Amino acid sequence: MILAIANQKGGVGKTTTAINLAAALALRQRKTLLIDLDPQANSSMSFVDLRNVQKNMYDVFLDTSVNIKDVILPTALEYLAVAPARIALAKLEARMTGDLDAPFRLKDQLAQVIDEYPNVVIDCPPALGLLTVNALVAATHILIPIQSSYFALEGTDDLLETIEKVRQRPNPELRILGVVITMHDRRTALGRDIREQIRKVFGDKVFRTVISKSVRLEESPAYRESIFTFAPDSSGATEYYSLCEEVMDRA
Ligand SMILES: Nc1ncnc2c1ncn2[C@@H]1O[C@H](COP(=O)(O)OP(=O)(O)OP(=O)(O)O)[C@@H](O)[C@H]1O
Ligand SMILES: [Mg+2]
Repeated sequence: MILAIANQKGGVGKTTTAINLAAALALRQRKTLLIDLDPQANSSMSFVDLRNVQKNMYDVFLDTSVNIKDVILPTALEYLAVAPARIALAKLEARMTGDLDAPFRLKDQLAQVIDEYPNVVIDCPPALGLLTVNALVAATHILIPIQSSYFALEGTDDLLETIEKVRQRPNPELRILGVVITMHDRRTALGRDIREQIRKVFGDKVFRTVISKSVRLEESPAYRESIFTFAPDSSGATEYYSLCEEVMDRA
């Protein structure tokens, strides 16, 4: 399973989902590689000290002499490794346009490590540019986090169109694994309405597990931990664990 966590909308919970899903898989003793393609590098920071990072995904994309194996770092979790990002990823797209194989870089690199990491989770940036396209071309599945908010579904047409384009040519096997509702407030009528709306559009693609709005989840990145070590008894830990079960069942 190569799972791209993608939605070009900013701040919908992609990184939080990538971090905690990758950690949940690792805690279930599934060997997992978390690839950080978000220039903010929050996924990387949660598991590695960026001061120890020599090479990162930016080098893998731009320097053909750098292999993805050169950037993968171990984490405190035995079954989890991370391929970190760096802020410079933001400048990458401009430098790569024009290269004919630009959309295929990640796919080619992943082919070399997939035997070692049967599960790969990719944290995508909030854009439908070359980095997200690289993730979609390399992925077997996409998981779409949608924030439970008034404009929840805004922009999903563009995302679905991009997925369809990738499916027509470079990656016909790409499947939508599911849609996860994040930052949900089940106490309000608005929250319940939004959930209904999302269900109408995506039907049974919507995961049964809904991620609630939670202060614990919001705080955990600041402590550089997944929710499972930061607040193991919180709702966020239970919900991401249950999302992980659904992901494993569907993949
Ligand atoms: N379930 C939740 N409850 C409360 N806060 C959350 C929850 N999930 C994420 N957040 C917070 O919301 C903000 C955005 O989340 P996150 O960084 O995961 O989104 P993102 O889609 O990766 O954003 P970007 O598009 O900028 O990469 C962060 O401050 C995060 O801590
Ligand atoms: Mg992010």
